[in-house]
Amino acid sequence: MFSSKHVLSLLWLPLATAQTAKIDLSWHAPKQTWINDLPKVVNGSGTHGFVFNSSVLPPGADYRTYNWCNMPHVRRAEYPVADKEYQLEYVEVIHRHHKRTPYASNTFPRESYPWDCSGQGLFYYGQPLAAGGNASAITYWSVFTTNINPFAPAGFNGTCQFPQITTEGLDDSWQHGKDLYGVYHDLLHFLPDGLDTKVTYRVTNNVITSQVAGMLVEGMYGPSGTVPLHVQPSSIDSLEPAYPCPSASNLSSSYGVGSTSAAWTAHLKAAKPLFDTLDSISGISPNSTDWHKSFDHYYDNLSARQCHGKPLPCSIKDPTKCVIQKDADAVYRLGQYEYSFIYRDSPLSLPASVGSYGVWIAEVAQNIRDYISGTSPVIYRHNVAHDGSLSRLLSILQVDVMVWVGMGSEVVFELYTKNGQGTKRYVRILWGGQILTSSNPMLGKVDMLDVDILLAYFDGLTGIGAGKVVEYCQGRE
Ligand SMILES: *[C@@H]1O[C@H](CO)[C@@H](O)[C@H](O)[C@H]1NC(C)=O
Ligand SMILES: *[C@@H]1O[C@H](CO)[C@@H](O)[C@H](O)[C@H]1NC(C)=O
Ligand SMILES: *[C@@H]1O[C@H](CO)[C@@H](O)[C@H](O)[C@H]1NC(C)=O
Ligand SMILES: *[C@@H]1O[C@H](CO)[C@@H](O)[C@H](O)[C@H]1NC(C)=O
Ligand SMILES: *[C@@H]1O[C@H](CO)[C@@H](O)[C@H](O)[C@H]1NC(C)=O
Ligand SMILES: *[C@@H]1O[C@H](CO)[C@@H](O)[C@H](O)[C@H]1NC(C)=O
Ligand SMILES: *[C@@H]1O[C@H](CO)[C@@H](O)[C@H](O)[C@H]1NC(C)=O
Repeated sequence: MFSSKHVLSLLWLPLATAQTAKIDLSWHAPKQTWINDLPKVVNGSGTHGFVFNSSVLPPGADYRTYNWCNMPHVRRAEYPVADKEYQLEYVEVIHRHHKRTPYASNTFPRESYPWDCSGQGLFYYGQPLAAGGNASAITYWSVFTTNINPFAPAGFNGTCQFPQITTEGLDDSWQHGKDLYGVYHDLLHFLPDGLDTKVTYRVTNNVITSQVAGMLVEGMYGPSGTVPLHVQPSSIDSLEPAYPCPSASNLSSSYGVGSTSAAWTAHLKAAKPLFDTLDSISGISPNSTDWHKSFDHYYDNLSARQCHGKPLPCSIKDPTKCVIQKDADAVYRLGQYEYSFIYRDSPLSLPASVGSYGVWIAEVAQNIRDYISGTSPVIYRHNVAHDGSLSRLLSILQVDVMVWVGMGSEVVFELYTKNGQGTKRYVRILWGGQILTSSNPMLGKVDMLDVDILLAYFDGLTGIGAGKVVEYCQGRE
């Protein structure tokens, strides 16, 4: 079914250091854990210590614990400070937005209670930037519906847009900014005291990333002036990602969500009794493809409720029939399994991710090069993105243990020089605030890796300027 063109292999590339290194572009299987062990996922119990019910961990829990509601990020208490002989030069952060209401597509046909966002405003307006130009009033969206409007969206109830970052999610965003500033400014004296051209922020076209960015920038700098959030045109946004890549979409649906391959459907078949139970409570039709081609919708519906301290849902017809925690936990285990399968366990995950996320990868490579060559003054770039962004990045980095990247999930690239090594650069990659381990032995524990190796790996996959991605996406490879 798949031609050999999808299989990437070894390339020999000349490195800037003049020696020729073997650049391993091939896929390497992730570690075996409960997450990619189907019997343990389907017939196991609990969530293996993963948290799904609060942004705040239970007392005494290790901050590095997986918390779907508020994932661990770079923070002073746990930050692995580099040896003194290394000097930090450039940082690029990417993280998923913080917790939100569910997407409209993930709400059940009838909502048993409303989502209340009346305690916050979504500020949205345009204003001329020219000094002395007409100013805008500070206006915001206040969401409402009426009894007259018969077209209330399925599942809509309350004063939120679905999706919208909730008030708690806004607070988590603010704290995320404060924690990063605590490390890169207060501890390392790396960031400037005030916002200037050395620091930039980027968001996607999905407004929830802007909701996060505003709070996060305030948590970092508390600026008095306005702050630009860089964003690409919606049809080509590489961060989201939203640029068209039919080959990657086709490849993904050939083995992952929507596929009829046995490798994909095994867990769906094994979990049929669970689907039946959930359908009978939610009122979702057992015939709905959207709700049964993966656990995405049930996972989002249940986890968004639990992260906000709301009870598990009950049947509208029979309020004594409710989703039980045991079944919610099974949904959470299956969600982890799906993300591991889609982004790491399938050997096709690497080419699919390179196609759909290669442009952003090539941009990071260029950002690092621009810093090194002195072309750009930026020392800190910050991207607010989605699970689809972080998952593909982790897929390309070939993280050793893949999970469904929770709210606020973060990856940081840190570029260093080393005493006595002149302008030679080294890179560290942090995932959840700790050093990332890749299953690709060439990358390994990405801790002061020769940056030329990382750049050659990225170039080898995407082509310089993402040239290979264009060819691949258009099927011209
Ligand atoms: C789960 O357990 C049942 C009953 O023992 C068994 O029939 C089934 O094959 C198991 N499922 C998986 C995926 O191992
Ligand atoms: C979250 O779940 C854990 C495990 O079931 C429980 O011990 C804890 O009390 C819950 N926390 C909240 C805030 O509900
Ligand atoms: C909205 O929630 C209320 C309870 O707060 C409920 O009575 C009503 O049926 C819900 N509406 C919808 C469309 O689910
Ligand atoms: C504000 O807009 C009006 C109408 O176009 C224009 O006449 C005026 O010059 C603008 N004022 C400033 C300060 O730009
Ligand atoms: C993707 O799949 C569609 C539908 O099967 C097909 O028409 C299209 O040519 C494919 N595109 C590529 C680039 O493979
Ligand atoms: C599901 O589809 C079958 C076959 O088309 C149909 O008989 C059944 O009524 C449908 N069930 C629901 C709940 O829509
Ligand atoms: C999930 O569905 C239930 C049942 O209709 C609904 O009450 C709830 O608001 C939905 N929650 C989420 C997070 O989608």
